[in-house]
Amino acid sequence: MTDLERAGLRLEYNHDGAVAEIALNRPERRNAQSPAMWAGLASLGEELPDTVRVVVLRGEGPSFSAGLDIRAFTAEGIPGEGPALPPGISRPDLADLIGVYQEGFRWLRDPRFTTIAAVHGHAIGAGFQLALSCDLRVAAEDVRFCMKEPALGLVPDLTGTKPLVDIVGLPRALELCLTARDIHAEEARELGLVEKIVKNEDLDGAVAELVAALLKIDAGAARATKALLQKAPGNSLDDQCRAEREAQVLRMVRD
Ligand code: CAA
Repeated sequence: MTDLERAGLRLEYNHDGAVAEIALNRPERRNAQSPAMWAGLASLGEELPDTVRVVVLRGEGPSFSAGLDIRAFTAEGIPGEGPALPPGISRPDLADLIGVYQEGFRWLRDPRFTTIAAVHGHAIGAGFQLALSCDLRVAAEDVRFCMKEPALGLVPDLTGTKPLVDIVGLPRALELCLTARDIHAEEARELGLVEKIVKNEDLDGAVAELVAALLKIDAGAARATKALLQKAPGNSLDDQCRAEREAQVLRMVRD
């Protein structure tokens, strides 16, 4: 068994290495996540070869992901991994540890890749945040998103709060988090949380279609455009105009 398999992940390359398909592969636990899985995801972010332009993240079995493995909250913790809160850990050390966990989610924003979450069934807590970490979400009709953390006395801390607020706005994000209610397919589409909803049996086909469309665009232009668009929400118009000029000059005039 490889380290990746032990972490509950499976990796496959398609389209001559231009597409990396990552599956959460713990279906018997509804793809519950663990620190080892986050470390595996982070290492994929570092190690995927330059040929990869598109990353697809999906879940095996009935759910995309039921979030953090709830055994992490027991004294024994997740078998082989220990408790989520190491006994006696200081606040600064815990903050550092959460920073390490977040690396499993952050890399999905890297402009090297366009990242797609193919979501079906439950996407709860860390599962919702993982889907939110991707650039695009295609979902099946049975999808149920839920930001469960506040209902467990916690805050969402796996990089999902920014994309959530960016997509749905502050009041709706507050309502979704502070009620920890389920968001079904139609509402998710209306809120912009997913780009497309399809029948469950059509999910793979819809993702394949999107991947094919993305691969038709020049790789350098795609990377530069993602980087440019990511700057837009934080930039003034003047700053964004400058960013557009700078990016275009790099595209059009070679050294
Ligand atoms: N952790 C560990 N095991 C889990 C799990 C989880 N998060 N979710 C499901 N499982 C296991 C179940 O224990 C069950 O195992 P057994 O067959 O050995 O009993 C198996 O997966 C199948 O689960 P269910 O029988 O419950 O399946 P279901 O289809 O009836 O329900 C579900 C699915 C709604 C996802 C339900 O399992 C559930 O509510 N799971 C817990 C969800 C949860 O609270 N996650 C934590 C969110 S918070 C977070 O992620 C971030 C954070 O920082 C705290």
